[in-house]
Formats: sequence, C-alpha cells, structure tokens
Amino acid sequence: WPVHEPLIQAIEALKRERNAVVLAHNYQRPEIFHGVADIVGDSLALARRAAEVDAAVIVMAGVRFMAETVKLLNPERTVLLPDREAGCSLASSITAEDVRALRARHPGVPVVAYVNTSAAVKAEVDICCTSGNAVEVVESLGVPRVLMIPDEYLARHVASRTSVEVIAWTGHCEVHERFTGAEIRAYREGFDGLAVVAHPECPPDVLAEADVVGSTQRMQDFVAANRPRRVLLVTECSMSDNLAALFPDVEFVRPCNLCPHMRLISLANILESLRRLEPRIDIEPALAARARLSVERMLAVRP
Ligand code: 13P
Ligand code: SF4
Repeated sequence: WPVHEPLIQAIEALKRERNAVVLAHNYQRPEIFHGVADIVGDSLALARRAAEVDAAVIVMAGVRFMAETVKLLNPERTVLLPDREAGCSLASSITAEDVRALRARHPGVPVVAYVNTSAAVKAEVDICCTSGNAVEVVESLGVPRVLMIPDEYLARHVASRTSVEVIAWTGHCEVHERFTGAEIRAYREGFDGLAVVAHPECPPDVLAEADVVGSTQRMQDFVAANRPRRVLLVTECSMSDNLAALFPDVEFVRPCNLCPHMRLISLANILESLRRLEPRIDIEPALAARARLSVERMLAVRP
C-alpha cells in the first residue's frame, strides 16, 4: 500500500517509542489489518491474546466492547480506542437495567452474554461467550436453561446445536440482519461451485442456506483448510478483502455490507491516538471487577 506507507511508518515508530501494540479485528481495513496490526483475530482470539499482551499501551482497532474487554483484562495498561464513537448495535440493544429485569422474570436462570455488550452489562451476567465458543460456554454451565443476550439470531443458532433451552433477547447486528436467504440463493445460482460460510449473527433463513456457520476465525480456518475455488463469506465485507490478500487462489464473491462502527477506525486516528494517548478506555474499578469475572469465566472454558 504505497499510498499508506508514510502513515504506517509513523505508526510503527510511535509504537516503538510508546511500547505499544495494535490489536485489530478481522473487519478492519486491509491497510490496518495487514499494515500495522500486531495481533489480529476474531473476538475470542483478541480476548485471549489481550490477556497475554506485554506492552504499556494497547490500541484496539475495533469497536468499544472489544476495547473494554481488553481493559478488563489489562486494568493497569493504557487501552486506546482511536474513535470513541465506534460502538455496536448489539451492545447498544441492552442495558444493565434490562439484565436485572430479565433476571427478575427468570429467577435462577444463568445469563450468558455475547462479548458484544458493554462492561456495565458484563458486570450483571454469569459468563460471556463469543460466536466462536457459544455452544461450549452454554453447555459448560450444566443447567437445563439459560438466558442468552443480546443477539437473538446467535441464541437461536446455539439453541439448534444444544439440548439446553435458550431464552433469547431481541438484539440484532445491523450489518448481518440485512442479509436474506433469497440473496444467498441468488448468489448460488449466479456462481458455480460456490461455498457459503455465514456468521451466526445472520437471520435463520440465511444460516439455513449456508454450508458452514461460524465466527470470523472459523471463516478463515475454513478457507485455509478447504481452498474453495469460490467462496461467499456472509459477513462484513472487509473480512473478504483481508482474506483475499492471504489466499490469492480463492475467488471471494462479496455482497458488501460494511460495519459503520468498524469503519470509524483509520490509520490517521490510530496515529493520533498514539500521539495523544487518547481516547482512553476507563472503567470504574468496582464495576470492572464484576465484569472481568464473566470474561475470565469464559476464558476458562476450553472449546
Ligand atoms: P467474531 O467474534 O466472529 O469476529 O465477530 C465479532 C463481530 O462483531 C461480528 O459482527
Ligand atoms: Fe457490532 Fe455488527 Fe458491527 Fe460486529 S458487525 S461490531 S456485531 S454492529
């Protein structure tokens, strides 16, 4: 990316000066994902690696809930989110107050929270999960029934893979809810030999059309292991851009749904955040202690 080279060089120099690392989610722009990230992955991989990072400053090239998870696991380090407005429609679909009301309606039923939630919500729940470990987390509890928040479609997908009863909330991802089963069928008709891999945040009629359902890491593993001639990744379209650079022999057929929150992060604001050491993530210590427990419980479950 010659056009990005001056910014990439400036970020690399500041990373060394600040003893900083950049974590990037799979949906980040290619020049961030391939250009300045030290660690990349899905939400689960980022949470795991965040627990191991040995740097004074961690920049999260991703959205707020990801930066908060990093801060929960690294309370002593400076955690930067280059644009403080980078949120998530799932995280904003439920509040701590909603969780308390849910518990009152379903006494004794444990609450499993997708990591796509605020730290305040994580502080109210029993355990977290990601799309990469949700079934294992639900089954690890050894109970007949769980509440699963906030993603209705992920909860329904998990319910289809376990005998545990799953009571869902009604949150949706504004990017994945736009896909339809009819759209996927049209792609299959238009492209011979197409492999379809869908994220579990997609609606059930989309998942019914997929060959494989999984997290963004699972998508990468599928492409790496199977080297399909053509693949449709039913997810945020930067995922295909990033994998296309790694697998030039695979044709990525892409519907383009972008996450407006992920797009707020750029090389320019990563550089600016490293210069100013702002915007920082700060979480009130008592709330953080409770929220941390639910993340640590998740990390203790081995898929
Ligand atoms: P993954 O954990 O699969 O990377 O998903 C995170 C996310 O925000 C999907 O929209
Ligand atoms: Fe949230 Fe959806 Fe964006 Fe992921 S893609 S960060 S779930 S709004």
